[in-house]
Amino acid sequence: MLMVCLGNICRSPTAHGVLESLVSKAGLSHAIEVDSAGTANFHVGKSPDPRSMAAAAKRGYDLRVLKARQVAAKDFLEFDYVFAMDAENLKVLEGLRAQGSSTKLKSLCLLLNNSEEGASNVPDPYYSGEEGFELVLDLVESACRRLLDEIVINHEISRLAFRK
Ligand code: 4NP
Repeated sequence: MLMVCLGNICRSPTAHGVLESLVSKAGLSHAIEVDSAGTANFHVGKSPDPRSMAAAAKRGYDLRVLKARQVAAKDFLEFDYVFAMDAENLKVLEGLRAQGSSTKLKSLCLLLNNSEEGASNVPDPYYSGEEGFELVLDLVESACRRLLDEIVINHEISRLAFRK
């Protein structure tokens, strides 16, 4: 499972940390690899944004070990699922994905319930205040909980139910 945003310092490391924590608590770390990357290269090698790390730490997620990297075409050979945080990320990823790749490329927000958050993107918090980072966590936690529920219910990840 690869989580992708623009810079790999705010949204996708948050999704990486949240999903990895849920996977670990469910005892599935041996079966599910979680990673994250950015479509851009401007923060490669950097730790997550301190605001993301602080907001995540308040909810019990430790993002300190993560380092930004840029997504590459070979990620579509290595991951079964690639999740984009917004429509722009999705567009870039569609361009990187080789024809015939069996990797499933989805917007993470398709896992959100219509009646609840109903968001179609995880909004970029980089230029926002603290509330932007809380919203990222709210959306990412809901989507990742649903992702894990689906995995556990179906005993496989090939039949995930996405919002239409
Ligand atoms: P992310 O947020 O895509 O959630 O990591 C951003 C981080 C950095 C920039 C934009 C978005 N930036 O323009 O540097």
